[in-house]
Amino acid sequence: MKRLEWLIFAGVLLAGAVGLIHAQTSVTGYWDFQAPRTANNDGTYRETFFELKQDGETITGRIEPGGSREMAIAEGMLHNGALHFAVITPHAGAASTKVVYEGSLTQDGRFTFASITADGNRTPGELVRTSKESALPPPRIAPPALHDVPDNGLVRTPPMGWNSWNRFKGLITDADVRGIADAMVSSGMAKAGYQYINIDDTWEGQSRDSNGNITTNRKFPDMKALADYVHSKGLKLGIYSSPGPLTCAGYEGSYGHEEQDAKTYASWGIDYLKYDWCGARNEYKDDEEQAMYQKMGDALLKSGRPIVYSLCQYGHVNVWQWGSKVGGNLWRTTGDINDHWASLDLIGFGAQQGVTQLEIASFEKPGHFNDPDMLEIGNGGMTADEYRLHMSVWALLAAPLLAGNDLRTMSDETKSILMNTEVIAVDQDKAVNPVRAVTPDVWARTLADGSLAVGLINRGDASAPVTVTWKSLGIAGKKIQARDLWAHKAVSVSPDGYTATVPTHGIVMLEISAK
Ligand code: GLA
Repeated sequence: MKRLEWLIFAGVLLAGAVGLIHAQTSVTGYWDFQAPRTANNDGTYRETFFELKQDGETITGRIEPGGSREMAIAEGMLHNGALHFAVITPHAGAASTKVVYEGSLTQDGRFTFASITADGNRTPGELVRTSKESALPPPRIAPPALHDVPDNGLVRTPPMGWNSWNRFKGLITDADVRGIADAMVSSGMAKAGYQYINIDDTWEGQSRDSNGNITTNRKFPDMKALADYVHSKGLKLGIYSSPGPLTCAGYEGSYGHEEQDAKTYASWGIDYLKYDWCGARNEYKDDEEQAMYQKMGDALLKSGRPIVYSLCQYGHVNVWQWGSKVGGNLWRTTGDINDHWASLDLIGFGAQQGVTQLEIASFEKPGHFNDPDMLEIGNGGMTADEYRLHMSVWALLAAPLLAGNDLRTMSDETKSILMNTEVIAVDQDKAVNPVRAVTPDVWARTLADGSLAVGLINRGDASAPVTVTWKSLGIAGKKIQARDLWAHKAVSVSPDGYTATVPTHGIVMLEISAK
């Protein structure tokens, strides 16, 4: 045969073979759309499950069958190996969103597949057959009955350290964590009190091993070796999980494996766990959160290793009232922080879950802290005055100080903010007295030695004078000494009080002693 004839012959054979597959294979059954997380580059993929039914060329079925997000698919069609369907999500009072799924059959019975949003955003992957058991949500595990988890005795002052999420999100690697640990020491952060190096979401492997043990993805090839390295620097290592089957970023969570995971963390040498709710919200109702947090609180204690327990459920169901009962050392009280003023202003001064941070300050005690989220200092989205206010307000609130920037590349200004040891001393004050607003712009906290930490706050758009009177602090008539904790020097005060010109979105932080 000539070349052209060969090509035609081969083409006919191939078409015949593919046609045979089309004719013989029904797509009826359960399917797993595996979309590799290419940006994170960690070898894992996001899974979306479908149940499909074929009738001739017509395809019907459901996305996320059996789950709380189950929906019927629309426009389903299989024609010449090309599969097409859509998922249309209605939104109350707004236009519905439509995601189109398109794929073509490969010779071995999978589909190369993509989900395509209305704005043309394509997420490519593969659609592979799966079992009913894998496609349906895991069976519900009833939450345990409530009891009080004993205090682990850790972090009597707010934990200090670093967390990967704000700066790195899903891009964090073992090498980054080692570099951050090095920089924590070389920059002086460790000496200033920062100790925990916390890996947030996206360290987890695609699935558990055959014994149900949690695994790491390829960016964290040996968690124990990493913990050893961090410990060798005199620091501690933290990790992240969820009470749900999946974490917030869709990675493997601890659902049904709480004790097993706590044991694994202990065997790796983990010192801190951030346990994040959002992956559990399809399994459990709000009023079951306490029980599910208690479950991991018990598991951590049972692991035998001292592990700081950080609750992250954004301040739902008045967590400040029960966080310490589940063994929590800290609990998030707000939604996620972002690196801009509006976010800082909302978290610091606005109401979240119906309360301000000031209103819940009295729930804090040694070993048990409100957590208004991690620091954004040094990430570039705010001014130095805004970052100084961030640091000072977190210190006044006795909040955990978890830096969220790249410690390897800090400017001198960032260092001067994160390592202001006088402000850190306010945060770390052993008495953990609640901060109070003397006026909306003047916050005060009584420290263990009887002196007062006072913040003169300017949330306005221009610099402005802010005054604190001795009367309002209850120290009128005494001999007053005041020190400016950002200027690092004593300031002279009048017999009635002190007025500072405070920059826009800024703070003047004082320590005042009265005798
Ligand atoms: C939630 C948390 C964040 C971070 C991400 C990770 O949004 O509130 O702090 O942990 O999940 O997926």
